[in-house]
Amino acid sequence: DNSTEKSWKGKPLTEMPSLFLQKCVQLSDIKPGRDHTVLFNAPFLMSDAVPEPHPTSYTDKWDTEHVKMPCSPSNLYPVNINGNSALDQRWKLVKQAFCDKKISCSLELEKAILSYNSRYNQIWNFRGFHEFVDKELSSTERQKLFDHILPGIIRLAIEVPERVTRTPVLLVRNKSHSISMSQSQIASLLANAFLNTYPRRNTQKRQSEFASYPDINFIKLLENRSRSSWVYGKLRCLLNYFDRVVTEEPKGVVTFTRQVVSDSEYPSWDTASDTLNGFHVSSEGTIEKEGSGLLQVDFANKFIGGGVLNTGCVQEEIRFVICPELIAACLFSEVMENNEALIITGCEQYSRHSGYGDTFRFEGDFVDNTPRDAYGRRLCQVVAIDAIPFRSKEVQYKQESIDRELRKAFAGFHCRHGVALTAVATGNWGCGAFRGDPRLKCLIQLMAAAVTHRDVVYFTFGDRQLRDDLYNMYSLLKEKEVTVGTLYTMLCQYGQQIGGSRSLSLDLYGYLYALLDTLDSEDGVADCSSET
Ligand code: AR6
Repeated sequence: DNSTEKSWKGKPLTEMPSLFLQKCVQLSDIKPGRDHTVLFNAPFLMSDAVPEPHPTSYTDKWDTEHVKMPCSPSNLYPVNINGNSALDQRWKLVKQAFCDKKISCSLELEKAILSYNSRYNQIWNFRGFHEFVDKELSSTERQKLFDHILPGIIRLAIEVPERVTRTPVLLVRNKSHSISMSQSQIASLLANAFLNTYPRRNTQKRQSEFASYPDINFIKLLENRSRSSWVYGKLRCLLNYFDRVVTEEPKGVVTFTRQVVSDSEYPSWDTASDTLNGFHVSSEGTIEKEGSGLLQVDFANKFIGGGVLNTGCVQEEIRFVICPELIAACLFSEVMENNEALIITGCEQYSRHSGYGDTFRFEGDFVDNTPRDAYGRRLCQVVAIDAIPFRSKEVQYKQESIDRELRKAFAGFHCRHGVALTAVATGNWGCGAFRGDPRLKCLIQLMAAAVTHRDVVYFTFGDRQLRDDLYNMYSLLKEKEVTVGTLYTMLCQYGQQIGGSRSLSLDLYGYLYALLDTLDSEDGVADCSSET
């Protein structure tokens, strides 16, 4: 019997519905319209050329529905002219900072960035970036940065009005909308983020215009105030990305979708009659690698990207620095509500890494050979869902918390054009930085997957005990044909119990096993199982 040696249990990975097996059927079309903004000439069917920006010349939108672009004529900044303060076009200042001069050291870059961010002269501190450049990089790497990568970043950034001719819309709360752009447009947008040119995006004030949006300017990453070594690894990943895109322009396309689920679309959990779908659980492997071709869960923050442009370095941040096109979502995605998810289709991996958290390291270039769809999107789909951060353990078993997490997972897994659906690649969602219980979260994800007709591929990230516990519980639930409704009721009962008598001696699975045991012997819990 070699099953004890296998690192996985359940349905084989090769049998899981994947984008590779049923090519493209799950990816929705790119059709410009009321709910889909397309920044290039569509329909663009993958050819050997970079997609052309649409419209042909820059059209600015400076309003509450669009990104405030650095190159907008309405982007004004106070300047001091002969002792008098006046307003000048900020884009002019940006161009002045970089045109006709070569930046050859990090101090010069600091000076240039501050020239159009003069309000932050005394606030931003570039010492961390100077140390990165002077001490962390080798002289060859340094030379490459100033001779090749940085000039490329500057060119991409300055060319933004020619490359991104249509102002990107904001993916605002409570509105399902998609935005598609070329990888080359993303490179230009991210080059601006690196140079900290986005207006209205630096203040931390609660009432500020973009207070409900994530950070997009790279300043905190460059500052690296805590001098964290893993931040150097993140910077290396990002510089490697820029090296790649300035050396050879990428030709593909990425779609960002905000998916909002309305009340009427949710199942009623207590009566849902679906039983669990296919399940593969493995103690080895990662969502991004072994889960390729599946719907890959990003263990997100409600502000997409979490600490990616700061010191954060767990699942979401790592994914975002090895696939930096994901960071573009930070530019236009408003904080997520409980009934919302963000789905990103077509992003590419550029860097390799090792370690996790404080051991994170950049391990070199990564060439992504994932096939593309007809529009030029890599067959890669990431879904960002934010779990609840728990301070105390008990709260998560309360019905309110279970409902919220079920709705969030449903928002991520739900698919409106019900074709054969890819399996979800996930793991300990909400169970690291957010301190949830993976034994509960796995059941919640299985339930959301069951009602959205998806299989689940679960990576326990090295934990074999967890793998076995999850598999045994799943097997029993299958064997007894327990419905989502019954399981939901049992979970809620557990939540009530641990609320009532603080001294409940059984852990969640112990409690479920005891209840499941009574399922066929007596009618004790029959009232909580819906008819099959
Ligand atoms: N593949 C599979 N499993 C993984 C992977 C991976 N690549 N990486 C980590 N895990 P965490 P959260 C496992 O803490 O609790 C970020 O700052 C590993 O067991 O990233 O939902 C976000 O922006 C790990 O402990 O997710 C949010 O602010 C567990 O997944 C916050 O963290 C949870 O990973 C979200 O925290």
